[in-house]
Amino acid sequence: MAALSLHSKPLLLQFMLLIIAFILGTRLHAADDPSLTLDYYASICPTVLETVKKQMECAVLSDPRNAAAVLRLHFHDCFVQGCDGSVLLDDTITLQGEKKASPNVNSLKGFEIIDKIKNEVESDCPGIVSCADILTIAARDAVLLVGGPYWDVPLGRKDSKTASFALANTNIPTPDGGLLSIISKFLYQGLSVTDTVALAGAHTIGVARCANFRARIYGDFEATSGQDPLSESTYLSSLKSICPPTRGAADNNISAMDYVTPNLFDNSFYQILLRGEGLLNSDQEMYSSVLGIQTRELVKKYAADPVAFFQQFSDSMVKMGNIANLDSFVTGEVRKNCRFVNT
Ligand code: HEM
Ligand SMILES: *[C@@H]1O[C@H](CO)[C@@H](O)[C@H](O)[C@H]1NC(C)=O
Repeated sequence: MAALSLHSKPLLLQFMLLIIAFILGTRLHAADDPSLTLDYYASICPTVLETVKKQMECAVLSDPRNAAAVLRLHFHDCFVQGCDGSVLLDDTITLQGEKKASPNVNSLKGFEIIDKIKNEVESDCPGIVSCADILTIAARDAVLLVGGPYWDVPLGRKDSKTASFALANTNIPTPDGGLLSIISKFLYQGLSVTDTVALAGAHTIGVARCANFRARIYGDFEATSGQDPLSESTYLSSLKSICPPTRGAADNNISAMDYVTPNLFDNSFYQILLRGEGLLNSDQEMYSSVLGIQTRELVKKYAADPVAFFQQFSDSMVKMGNIANLDSFVTGEVRKNCRFVNT
């Protein structure tokens, strides 16, 4: 098995990032947020869980991709200022949102689903349930609806009055940035290497655009795969036919990250990595990078043991969902409309 080369950043720099992230990461967010509780809305809005579930059922039934969209929205929310609904804010004259940041633009979807749930929840319990909480519950329901695990969601987040375009560009991992850069971005949030590998298992559902897997399919795809040359070359040529080597009209052409069961939340994503057929460089590197000693063992474990994957994914989702925006507990609010700060 050939080792994947690292992308774009020199090794030393990557190591330094990792060390810095260790120091910062464990300081910034590591403690569980004590102010979130499982029964936060039990008396003040007892219908909220049922409402979110019903709306998510409709959305996922009409298109399973919606499950992927909502799960990713929650991730991109939590990695920028904590899980505070900042990703949901539209650009206005006075506020620059996160929607046009490079990991998000032409890519994030599902905002209307959250709007619809919010409308429903507001008519039952006006001014009570934050958009950040709605998104967290919706992400859990999304996973469950496509066959993934259930977990209880701690609640009580407040919505931010700000967003950060800059942090959306720097905090969210990129597919071609290299394994250590990705790990450092998770450590920075107080998440471990184990959390990183388990949470990346979210790519068992959903799609990526050609612009995000071009470097992979015209790079070391052939070097990492090679166990079943016939089926792999068929897969690779079909990817190349939807994604030509030069930038242009095909940049937004999409392909499933788990081509085996694209709409099912299972552990086949990790089995694909064992075969060297991961669609994103970032995914394949967890198994194939020479630096990924710990990550490789975790990929093998989750490929072999779906129960272990589900258990860790649930725990890691709760941890990610607890990344707090400490400011918003003081200055935050419950937005009326998830797209705008209250006036
Ligand atoms: C480990 C670092 C990660 C990287 C580098 C990464 C990168 C990406 C990229 C490039 C895409 C395709 C976007 C596009 O082409 O438009 C994508 C899609 C997706 N990501 Fe990640 N991601 C990571 C971790 C996560 C995590 C932690 C989650 C959630 C827990 C997640 C959930 C998703 C989902 C569900 C999709 C599919 C979205 C859809 O079909 O609309 N990703 N990711
Ligand atoms: C996008 O993908 C389709 C196949 O799904 C392909 O026919 C088309 O040529 C691709 N677009 C470009 C510009 O290559």
